[in-house]
Amino acid sequence: KTVVLAYSGGLDTSCILVWLIEQGYDVVAYLAVYIEDLKEEFIRDFIYPTVQAAKAVYIEDLKEEFIRDFIYPTVQANAIYEDRYLMGTAIARPCIARRQIEIAKKENAGFVSHGATGKGNDQIRFELTYYALQPSITVIAPWRDPAFYKRFAGRKDLFEYAKQHGIPLPVTPKSPWSMDANLMHISYESGVLENPSAHAPPGIFNMTTDPEKAPQEPTTLAIEFKHGVPVKVTNKTEGVTKDGIVEMYLYLNEVAGKHGVGRIDIVENRFIGMKSRGVYETPAGQVLREAHIDIEALTIDREVRKIRDMLSSKMTEQVYHGFWWSPEALYVRKAIAQSQEDVEGVVELKLYRGNVYILGRSSPKSLYDEELVSMDVEGEYDPKTAEGFIKVNALRLREYGRLRGPADES
Ligand code: ARG
Ligand code: SIN
Repeated sequence: KTVVLAYSGGLDTSCILVWLIEQGYDVVAYLAVYIEDLKEEFIRDFIYPTVQAAKAVYIEDLKEEFIRDFIYPTVQANAIYEDRYLMGTAIARPCIARRQIEIAKKENAGFVSHGATGKGNDQIRFELTYYALQPSITVIAPWRDPAFYKRFAGRKDLFEYAKQHGIPLPVTPKSPWSMDANLMHISYESGVLENPSAHAPPGIFNMTTDPEKAPQEPTTLAIEFKHGVPVKVTNKTEGVTKDGIVEMYLYLNEVAGKHGVGRIDIVENRFIGMKSRGVYETPAGQVLREAHIDIEALTIDREVRKIRDMLSSKMTEQVYHGFWWSPEALYVRKAIAQSQEDVEGVVELKLYRGNVYILGRSSPKSLYDEELVSMDVEGEYDPKTAEGFIKVNALRLREYGRLRGPADES
C-alpha cells in the first residue's frame, strides 16, 4: 500500500506522514517548491529527519510550469474572484496535484493524501484534480477522518506527537493566524483574522512593504507582452531588464513588493458554502493584471473582448472551484488563448506607494487609429453617416416614447 503525500515540511503534514506510516502505508513524501529553492539547512535540519521513514522523497521545483501553465492563463483572462481575489492559492492546487499524480503513477501508488482541512476549498481543488487525472486513485484526507482528527484535536496534540516521533520542528513561535505561501501570493487566514472587523496586525505581510513606508521615488517599468503574456520587463528607472519566465516573475514580485503593490483584505464565499475572511498579497499578479488590461485595450477587438469576458467569469469559477481539469475548463482556456493572439506590445507604468499608474502603451498590432479618432482630420470616416446610425438606433426609443407618452421618472 503506497501513498503519495503532498508534504510541506510543516507541523500538520509532518504528523500526517508519520501517522500514515503508523497506519501501515508506505509513504512517498512529495514537496512542491515554489518561492525560493528550499534552504539547504532547512532540508538538512527539518525535512531530512522527518522523511527518514518515508519510502521515497520527491522535492520538485514547479516554478516555471506554475507560471506558464497556470498563472499566465489567468493573466490572459484578467481572472478575478468576487472582484478582488487573484486566486493565488486556488491556481496553485491543480499544479501541485498534477505532479502528485505523476509521481503516484511512477511509484505505482494507489493512494494520495493531503493536509487540507474538511472545511475549505483546497480539499476540493486537490481531489478534483486527482480524480480527473487518475480516475482509479484512492484519496486519504486525514482531516476528514475521525481516526485522525479526534486524536489530534488541537495543535498541542500535534506537537506532542511530533516530539514523541522525533519530528524536528522550527522553533519559531506559532503566529496567531495561518499562512499559505507560493510564488504568486501569500494568504493569511484564521486566528485573529477570523473576526472580519479586526484589522490585520501590522507586520503580518511578507512580500510587500507597507505603502506608507514604501520609497518616495516611483519606479517606472516597461512590460512587453506577446500573446497576452509578458515576455520582457524593463525597469526604466534603474536600467534593469529581465526576460526569463521565472526571473521576470520573481523580479516583478520584488519591485512591486517594494512599492507595496498588491495587498487586499476581503471576505469571500468558499465553494463549500461558508464565508471566510482572508488577507492576501499578490505583487506581480496585480501589476500584470493592470498592464494586461491596458495592452488589451489597444489590441483586442471590442466584440471578442465581450465574449472573452464572459468566458473569463467562467474560468474564474472553474479555478476557484477546482475544476481546472474539467472538459469545460479545457474548452474555455483554448478559447481565451485564441483571443490573445494579437495581444502584444509594451505598457509603461509607474509603481508608487501601493499603486500602479499606467503611463502609456504601444503595439505593432494596435487597432487604434490616430487619424480616425482625431478631431482635426476627417480621414476615412464620413460624419454624415452617423446621422443615419443614430436615427436607426432611435427607432425603437421613439416608438416607446410615442406609446408611453411624455417621459416620467417615477
Ligand atoms: N481562501 C483562499 C482560497 O480559497 C485562500 C486559501 C488559503 N489558505 C489555505 N490554507 N490554503 O483560495
Ligand atoms: C484549508 O486549508 O483547507 C482551508 C483553506 C481553504 O481551502 O479554503
